[in-house]
Amino acid sequence: MAGVTVDTSEDAALALDAEPDPANRRSDFLIPPAIGGDFPLTAYFAGNSLGLQPRATRAELMADLDAWEEYGVLGHTEADRPWVNYHEDLRGPAARLVGAVPREVVVMNTLTVNLHLLLASFYRPTTIRHRIVIEDSAFPSDSYAVRSHVAFRGHDPDTAVLRLRPRPGEDTLRTEDVVATLHDHAHSIATVMLGGVNYLTGEVMDMPAITAAGRQIGATVGWDLAHAAGNIPLELHDWNVDFAAWCSYKYLNSGPGSLAGVFVHERHLDDPSIPRLEGWWSTDPARRFEMLPISDPQSSADAWSLSNPPIFAMSPVRTSLQIFDEVGMSALRERSLRLTAYLRGLLENCPATQRSDIVTPAQDARHGAQLSIRVPVDPVDLTERLSANWGVVADDRRPNVVRLAPAPLYTSFHDCWRAVDAMSWELAEAGLA
Ligand SMILES: Cc1ncc(COP(=O)(O)O)c(C=O)c1O
Repeated sequence: MAGVTVDTSEDAALALDAEPDPANRRSDFLIPPAIGGDFPLTAYFAGNSLGLQPRATRAELMADLDAWEEYGVLGHTEADRPWVNYHEDLRGPAARLVGAVPREVVVMNTLTVNLHLLLASFYRPTTIRHRIVIEDSAFPSDSYAVRSHVAFRGHDPDTAVLRLRPRPGEDTLRTEDVVATLHDHAHSIATVMLGGVNYLTGEVMDMPAITAAGRQIGATVGWDLAHAAGNIPLELHDWNVDFAAWCSYKYLNSGPGSLAGVFVHERHLDDPSIPRLEGWWSTDPARRFEMLPISDPQSSADAWSLSNPPIFAMSPVRTSLQIFDEVGMSALRERSLRLTAYLRGLLENCPATQRSDIVTPAQDARHGAQLSIRVPVDPVDLTERLSANWGVVADDRRPNVVRLAPAPLYTSFHDCWRAVDAMSWELAEAGLA
């Protein structure tokens, strides 16, 4: 690791936490108690896997349950937050989060389901133009989704799925290499579908450049934003992205398995030539209860929605998105960059952790709130020890990566100090100091 000097003392961490910061909303979150170590609360670095619970979530969810108790079916129209329009409260905040105009977004289903629905519309293979491009290190669900789509349309997944790999000896993709691959296979690529932030390496892809290159060769371009939404600023509309989807249980703190978001660019919303899988929620709400056999699709991303919205799943999303609206992505990103740079500095300045490699790119534009660290020990064993002995919650990806994500809404500088202190002790214990 190269060295960027930071003050590595615990006092320095506490002093940083004492500085006022509007994006520090730690007191609005429930921090789990630590399993081990000297501190009562967990130092939580797994917000890239499952975000923490906002304090307000329980009361808001209870209020929605109370409405069900009080109104039964009449809650659709009579509840304080009528269920028939409930999803509308999510549209504005979700659009602001991803840089969309409101009618380009809808919150529904789960992430992989949404990727399938979007691929059904935007992957339209022909005999020649039939390939889908993904990263070789795409999250397995994405890989399974695109392989199954390709097979579903009668193509061979082993040849029709083009997997992007870093150069030999490198861990992350270079934009120029991605663009060159798109041009090299220009005539055979139907769709490009990549992770906006790679789940394994934490690399932020150059979404505007890759979207432009994909569209230039005549492909449709979609992004899996599971690790990007609520993590980095996004401008999906201006970047001309065709489609995108994201989950809300990571940086969006909406609870395990929570609902996902969908973006469809405005230019596709009124295009009748786009095939779509539909249900009764795709149709114009003004005509929904005419019970017609043929749908009259909405002129919004809601045309891709199928079912009536699950209110008790939407409630935590609504609560969480309010926090993002209050803080704003630019203040959040500023704090995120400070925290991540500090964590990187600590890792680089500590003799024990210097023996590990930070795989995540260092340039601000190329990382979010996650550092992926290649460790010289078994990562599963290390993360277990970090939790059991120190109350530090990280996660591991075999064969050799530990991921630390200082989620800026609730992770503190002192948490970062604790994580590196704990890693140093554990690596020293393993004889690696
Ligand atoms: C990048 C990415 N894509 C897809 C998924 C799958 O999400 P879901 O299980 O909500 O469909 C995940 C889950 O963590 C993910 O990180």
